[in-house]
Amino acid sequence: MAEMNAIANVRAIEILDSRGRPTVQTTLRLASGAAGTVSVPSGASTGAAEAHELRDGDAGRYGGLGCLRAVAHVNGPLRDMLVTRTVTSQADLDAMLNQADGTAAKSNLGANAILSVSLAWARTQSVAKGIPLYQQFADEIGHGAPTHLPRPTVNLFSGGKHAGGQMAIQDVLITPIGTDDAAVAMEQLVAVFNAAARLCRETYGMRLLVADEGGLAPAFPSIETAFDDAVRAIEMAGLRPGADIALCIDVASSHFFDGVAYNLDGAALTAAGMIDRISGWLDRWPIVSVEDGLAEDDWEHWPALRAAIGDRALVLGDDLTTTNPARIRRAIASKAANALLLKVNQIGTLTEAAEALRLVREARWAVNVSARSGETEDNWLTDLATGWAGDQMKVGSVTRSERLAKWNRLLVIASETGLPLAPWPSQAG
Ligand code: PGA
Ligand code: ZN
Repeated sequence: MAEMNAIANVRAIEILDSRGRPTVQTTLRLASGAAGTVSVPSGASTGAAEAHELRDGDAGRYGGLGCLRAVAHVNGPLRDMLVTRTVTSQADLDAMLNQADGTAAKSNLGANAILSVSLAWARTQSVAKGIPLYQQFADEIGHGAPTHLPRPTVNLFSGGKHAGGQMAIQDVLITPIGTDDAAVAMEQLVAVFNAAARLCRETYGMRLLVADEGGLAPAFPSIETAFDDAVRAIEMAGLRPGADIALCIDVASSHFFDGVAYNLDGAALTAAGMIDRISGWLDRWPIVSVEDGLAEDDWEHWPALRAAIGDRALVLGDDLTTTNPARIRRAIASKAANALLLKVNQIGTLTEAAEALRLVREARWAVNVSARSGETEDNWLTDLATGWAGDQMKVGSVTRSERLAKWNRLLVIASETGLPLAPWPSQAG
């Protein structure tokens, strides 16, 4: 039986993501014939501490963004290392991949190359065992069958690096907090998106052009206007702001922090000023989650942010924590946040991402499993968010098929399992 599980081939090619940029797609095949193919995503609003995404740097090809070197690393050294081997666990495989690379940031072989193999092995195992991919992910972290589905957080308005800097903060998201039915939730989210599109047309004369993650990006005169418009769109859809639909924000503040001040809508704010500003937003609008409210290395002030708003909202780390166990340990010890945005390509293997998950669950943090702004039609993310019992998932908007691939997978899993959405976390604080 063991030889049936031996790896027969690993093969990568360069494909294109939702921005038309190259990325890596890898297929892993076992001697039994079972095979799995995965594609890796790519961020634009990346944290400085993320694992190294290897790009060719050849300006004559895709503006330097080619992934042929990462592809060659899969088809060369990683294939040579793995073919004929019988890998018995994700942890064994990921340890081998890390050893082959030999750097903390995965800069030799590339985190994109390494992650593609790590994920492809998981998908191949699910195929070989005849189980859903989410169950393979659940088994990997020692969970039984999932009991909940991740609650969607959907990009309504986009700014920051995903929308040409029209609005300083990166996302205004909506989340359905009044239902535990995934199908009802998606219907409500689409109704609010359509109402917002109508509102944008009427208020800003904007055609339905969308940003990198499919969100609307009109020229809001201020951030506060975007919040007002989001609430208005919820009402226009016949839903109750704060009861049926709440707001989440990704401030992505590293990208408007200049090392001294937070440059927001014409003001140069100190960290304390920024915390006051966010706290004021929570007083006025039904915001239940605040991602990267402070900059990625502003360790000194994150605990004050959590103390100020942590009993009212998730204080969600993305660029701060970068799914990196070392940074997460520091964030837990200093009470810097109470929720983790989990992106496996920030760290580069499933095993290290699982360690990040274990650490934050021990600290009773909430977990939002997230896609990237550069995505493909692959849908493994929803299986990961389900199998790893994410409280929420974040995929972007309800437009653009690379986003819908993940939401549709949620609808499929919901219909196959009948599971409810996870309750909104109560442990914030
Ligand atoms: P990214 O943005 O994928 O461009 O990094 C997503 C986020 O900041 O949450
Ligand atoms: Zn973010």
